[in-house]
Amino acid sequence: MIYFDNSASSLNKPQVVKQAVVNALKNYTANPGRSGHKMAQAVAEQVFDARENVKKFFNASNHQVVFTKNCSEALNLAILGSLSAGDHVITTMYEHNSVLRPLTFLKQHGVELSIVDCPLNVVAEEIEKQIKPNTKLIITNAVSNVTGEVCPLDKVCYICKIHNIKWLIDGAQSSGHMDIDLDKLGADMYAFAGHKGLKAITGVGGLVVKNGCKLNPILFGGTGTESANLNQPTDIPEGLEAGTIPTIPIISLNAGIKFLMQNWQQIKAKEKALSDYAYKKLSSLKFLKLYSNQNSQNVFAFNLGELDSGLVADILNSKFEICTRAGLHCAPLVHKRLGTIKQGAVRLSLDFNNTFDEIDKLIFALNQINNMQ
Ligand code: ALA
Repeated sequence: MIYFDNSASSLNKPQVVKQAVVNALKNYTANPGRSGHKMAQAVAEQVFDARENVKKFFNASNHQVVFTKNCSEALNLAILGSLSAGDHVITTMYEHNSVLRPLTFLKQHGVELSIVDCPLNVVAEEIEKQIKPNTKLIITNAVSNVTGEVCPLDKVCYICKIHNIKWLIDGAQSSGHMDIDLDKLGADMYAFAGHKGLKAITGVGGLVVKNGCKLNPILFGGTGTESANLNQPTDIPEGLEAGTIPTIPIISLNAGIKFLMQNWQQIKAKEKALSDYAYKKLSSLKFLKLYSNQNSQNVFAFNLGELDSGLVADILNSKFEICTRAGLHCAPLVHKRLGTIKQGAVRLSLDFNNTFDEIDKLIFALNQINNMQ
């Protein structure tokens, strides 16, 4: 079996992550931040260490880390927690539904929404043209989950800084695959998923929030702090983490991040080499419509002539045991731009566990499918 669906979830978790989960099930099953006994304290220390390593990994020295159950929840918290009726928000056609759906909901409740539609290399300039006195938030992803194209983050950073507007980055696809330096970028909020590039088990994501950035909670309940107060505490992270947090996924995330930090240069070099190789091979197939560019971050979208993308992915799965993802990838506006809203596209997403030989096998399979037509 060849697994090329790492943008949906990474398949192979490092041994240290598996060990951390087993160890956590034995030793860290109490509830942190509530009771004061030693079992609860032990879990609280693990969670503290995980927050510190998230900050270290994203170079976020002036930030807090709010744990959520996934990246969608982190994005919902950032969006619903920042905006109210009368505010204006700007985003792009390259975003995932976890950004577009909360924004569409808010639009129905009095928030003004602008979605820029342009090539990614001029997205910052187009965003700047949309800025109004009531613009409160700019949202961009770092890497498209459809094409793997990278947003010009430095340019967006400049625009947000000179206009003094909050910036939320959707880091679902960038985390664990490229350097993210939040101190340098100055983004106010960065959302990440644990189970993709960061190699955690499912059940954890998070929002890295710059100190001073205020957010309203989207979930209310016990925090283990200010228990006599019937209003939700405003402190970050506790006030934004009502209820028991996903301790075992958080511990697995910590192990995944430590693994990445220890092997970061080798991982980046392998992923770059795989990406260059995949691009070279895919772009040499004349019958393929390739929607990604050379700088794509190990994510490539393509179609085989006019064949339905779901059919191609089904054949890759059933005849060649190659796992990809077809359809619209929960990012319909990207497909609108690509002209693939009906056909969808087949998406290939690699990580450092993949091999050059697996890419060769995919190329062989695509040639075979093309010959069947
Ligand atoms: N958003 C994830 C993907 O692109 C699930 O596959």
